[in-house]
Amino acid sequence: MKKNMNTQKAWFYEEYGPKEVLKLGDFPLPTPAHNQILVQVRAAALNPIDFKRRQRAIFPSDFPVVPGCDMAGVVVARGDGATKFGIGDEVYGNIQDFNAEGKLKQLGTLAQFIVVEESLVALKPKNISFEEAASLPLAIQTAIEGFVTAGFKGGQTVFIVGGAGGVGTLVIQLAKHLYGASEVVATASTPKVEFVKSLGADKVVDYTKTNYEEITEKFDFLYDTIGDTKNSHVVAKADAPIVDITWPPSHPRAVYSSLTVCGESLEKLRPYLESGKLKAIIDPTGPYKFTAVVEAFGYLETGRARGKVVVSPFPSLQPPPFVLLDNKGNPGP
Ligand SMILES: NC(=O)c1ccc[n+]([C@@H]2O[C@H](COP(=O)([O-])OP(=O)(O)OC[C@H]3O[C@@H](n4cnc5c(N)ncnc54)[C@H](OP(=O)(O)O)[C@@H]3O)[C@@H](O)[C@H]2O)c1
Repeated sequence: MKKNMNTQKAWFYEEYGPKEVLKLGDFPLPTPAHNQILVQVRAAALNPIDFKRRQRAIFPSDFPVVPGCDMAGVVVARGDGATKFGIGDEVYGNIQDFNAEGKLKQLGTLAQFIVVEESLVALKPKNISFEEAASLPLAIQTAIEGFVTAGFKGGQTVFIVGGAGGVGTLVIQLAKHLYGASEVVATASTPKVEFVKSLGADKVVDYTKTNYEEITEKFDFLYDTIGDTKNSHVVAKADAPIVDITWPPSHPRAVYSSLTVCGESLEKLRPYLESGKLKAIIDPTGPYKFTAVVEAFGYLETGRARGKVVVSPFPSLQPPPFVLLDNKGNPGP
C-alpha cells in the first residue's frame, strides 16, 4: 500500500480533561495561507496556558486541538505574500495569537509541521539551540509586557514573586540585566534559592521560611508571577505599581498584564541573546522526547518547573520526502 506522504504526527485532544486525554496520531500536513509559513518544528516548549486550555473551555475550541504555543524550527514552505523568511531559515516564536474571530489555532506546536503568520516569528539567533529558542517566546513576551504595562523605570527596586518559573526566571534577568533595576529581590523555595541568585537576583527570599510581613524593605515595583498579590502587595511601597499576570488579580491595586504576541519583540532581544546577557533557562528534567509529551505535561502541572519545560527532538519526516500541496490542493513547488 502506498504511504500517505501528506500526514504528520501530532499530539491532540478531542475533549477537555486531564493529561490522559492527550493522544498521538496522524494529522494532515497544513498548507500555509496568505502571509503564513510552514515550519518543520525542531523543539517546542510547554506553558500553563496549554494545560489550562485543555482542562476547561477557557478559550472555546473546535476539536481536535493540538496544544502548544512555542516552537523553534526550519521554514520549509511559504504562502502567498510571505516574503520575510527564506526556505531553510531557522525561526522561533509563539504561534498562538487570537484571530479575527477571537479563536486560537487548532494546530499548535506539538506537531511535526505547523503554519504561522510570518509576523509572529523571528530568526533564531545562531548561537542558541532550537531547544533554547523554543523555550523563550511566550514567557519572554509575558515578562516584557508586565514591565511595559506598569511603566517600569530604570533605577527602581523590584520584588519578584515566583523567581524560578518559566516567566519568573526571565523577569529577573530582564530587571537586572536589561532594564537597569537598582535592586532585584525574588522569592523561591529552599532548593531553588541558589539557582534564582544565579539568574541575577541580589537577594532571594525563601518563601517556605519567611512571610511577606517579615520583609521590612518596601519596593518601587512588585512583579507577581504566581497570582499571590492579595498577600504579596504588602512589600510594595504605597505608590508602587503592582503587576499580576494571573487572571483575575487577587488584589485591587494590582494591574493585570497579558502578553503581546509578535515576532518583533523577539527580534529586539537578538543582541541580548547573542551577547549572553539574556539566557534561555531549560528545566533540567527535560528536554522531553516527543513521545514523552504526557510526562512533560505531568511535570509542568506540578507547578514546580525550574525555567521552561521543553520538548525535543521531534521525529523527522524522512524518508520518504513529503509532498507539499498548494492552496488548491495540488502538489506545490
Ligand atoms: N498573563 C499572561 O499573559 C500569562 C502568560 C504566561 C503565564 N501566565 C500565568 O502565569 C503563571 C506563571 O507562569 P509560568 O509559566 O512561570 O509557570 P511555571 O513555570 O509553571 O511556574 C512554576 C514556578 O512557580 C514557582 N512557585 C509556585 N508557587 C510559588 C510560591 N508560592 N512562591 C514562589 N514561587 C512559587 C515554583 O517555584 P518553587 O518550586 O520554588 O515553589 C516554580 O518554579 C501561570 O499561572 C500562567 O498561567 C500568564
